[in-house]
Amino acid sequence: MSSFEARPAVKRESMHPSITAEQISQLVDQFYALVQSNPRLAPLFARNLSGDWDPHLEKMKGFWRSVLLKSGEYKGRPVPVHLQITDIQSEDFEEWLRLFSSICENVFTSEAADVVTQAAQRIATSLWLSRTSDPFASPPAWSQPASVQNLQSSL
Ligand code: HEM
Repeated sequence: MSSFEARPAVKRESMHPSITAEQISQLVDQFYALVQSNPRLAPLFARNLSGDWDPHLEKMKGFWRSVLLKSGEYKGRPVPVHLQITDIQSEDFEEWLRLFSSICENVFTSEAADVVTQAAQRIATSLWLSRTSDPFASPPAWSQPASVQNLQSSL
């Protein structure tokens, strides 16, 4: 008897063929180590992280495996989580992206680093825009695709 697939096959391709789960683990560990020693971001996270760092790092590894490897394991809702962080500024996102981009350069091939940084930039932009109720609000300068190169060369 031939088998019948009720759902069409979904292509679950990673965002770049060179990206591995091990690299994602390194990315998250190195990025949040840098965050915890950053004068702008460390206090912001300290004020807003509800639990310990270890479970947060595990959650973030699952999130990035879902985004980059399409693992489908992350089931959270980042928008309401970040809306609860009332003391966050546009410059904090810019700094977040600057650090994240520098770590991507260390961990991934340069082509994959661009793909990962651009994915972070798109998600950061939607997290930022979700904070405004103005439908005509302009995206901030750091969300423009061309600014990725500037972010990478600034560390
Ligand atoms: C300055 C910028 C940011 C700050 C200060 C920040 C801070 C935080 C904090 C404090 C939490 C944990 C909240 C809790 O423990 O309840 C969190 C969770 C999270 N953040 Fe961010 N974040 C920033 C940017 C981003 C960006 C750009 C991304 C994605 C590209 C991101 C993705 C996530 C995800 C996926 C979670 C887990 C949400 C969940 O509980 O399911 N964050 N963030």
